[in-house]
Amino acid sequence: MRSTGQCAKGNRRIRLRLAAGLHCRIIQKTRRPGLDTERKFMGNESASMIEIEDLHFSYGEKKIFNGINLKIPRGKVVAVLGMGGSGKSTLLRLIGGQLRPNQGRIRVNGQVVHQLDDRSLYELRRKMGLMFQAGGLFSDLSVFENVAFPLRELTDLPNEMIHDLVLMKLHAVGLRGATELMPNELSGGMARRVALARAIAIDPMLTMYDEPFAGLDPISLNVVAQLIRRLNDALQGTSIVVTYDVSESLKVVDYVYLLHDGLVQAEGTSEELLASEEPFVIQFLHAQPTGPVAFHMQAEPYREDMEIP
Ligand SMILES: Nc1ncnc2c1ncn2[C@@H]1O[C@H](COP(=O)(O)OP(=O)(O)O)[C@@H](O)[C@H]1O
Ligand SMILES: [Mg+2]
Repeated sequence: MRSTGQCAKGNRRIRLRLAAGLHCRIIQKTRRPGLDTERKFMGNESASMIEIEDLHFSYGEKKIFNGINLKIPRGKVVAVLGMGGSGKSTLLRLIGGQLRPNQGRIRVNGQVVHQLDDRSLYELRRKMGLMFQAGGLFSDLSVFENVAFPLRELTDLPNEMIHDLVLMKLHAVGLRGATELMPNELSGGMARRVALARAIAIDPMLTMYDEPFAGLDPISLNVVAQLIRRLNDALQGTSIVVTYDVSESLKVVDYVYLLHDGLVQAEGTSEELLASEEPFVIQFLHAQPTGPVAFHMQAEPYREDMEIP
């Protein structure tokens, strides 16, 4: 047993202090000197949690990325916006090392992901939290056990400490009262908040949210968006939110990348994008059905297809 030996004796005050201490230790690890003075979004290289350079990726013949460059500085919440099928989930899989680029590189915390050996990749993944598309709670585990899951899988903390950490995370999302419930007893918004608590259970240095707003009513959507922001700042983490939902994400993120046709088509702060006069940005942000993004998929000329001479 580690320095947490006294926990097992059940001294509640010591346990709580250790749980809080664990928070601090993990936070200290993710902090870097000089960050506090880093005022601008795009700072020097060492300020970036993620740096993507010239990323190319295909599934077989199907090209998904055609030379993407983007940076996610430490401590920030960044949105990657794109339509369904633009490759947002694929991007998260590349960052997490489940897929390898065909060209270019992704650095996470200074390490080139596709060059890591299995052990180093596992170590890196332990520092990442992921909220799956649509939450993805384990339906046969209680709320408590869902949030405890990554702590049991990724740490060897004693049960008492896991208990306290789970309650802290659930308290942070306002659901400490729901520990005994099963996922099918939760509303959509509550389930998403539990998924959020699970994503941050290990105090990740980087949290990735895949479509965190999908299918939520407007109030729950707002709650989840605010929580992503608040949890990021409280844990001094870094967050990447991939979503097609423009309106909510623009309110809470520091910076936005717009992904389309395998490239970053536009980037900037929410204010910059909202003020943009680029036709693609206007079409995307205002959900206009016509514009540079064509309604018609590319096809043979109509006359030829209809065999009109
Ligand atoms: N494992 C896979 N094999 C082949 N094609 C895939 C695979 N996963 C996703 N795709 C395709 O790649 C494109 C991008 O997918 P995805 O990253 O899921 O997009 P998004 O998350 O932006 O909706 C889609 O056209 C999808 O059908
Ligand atoms: Mg997706």
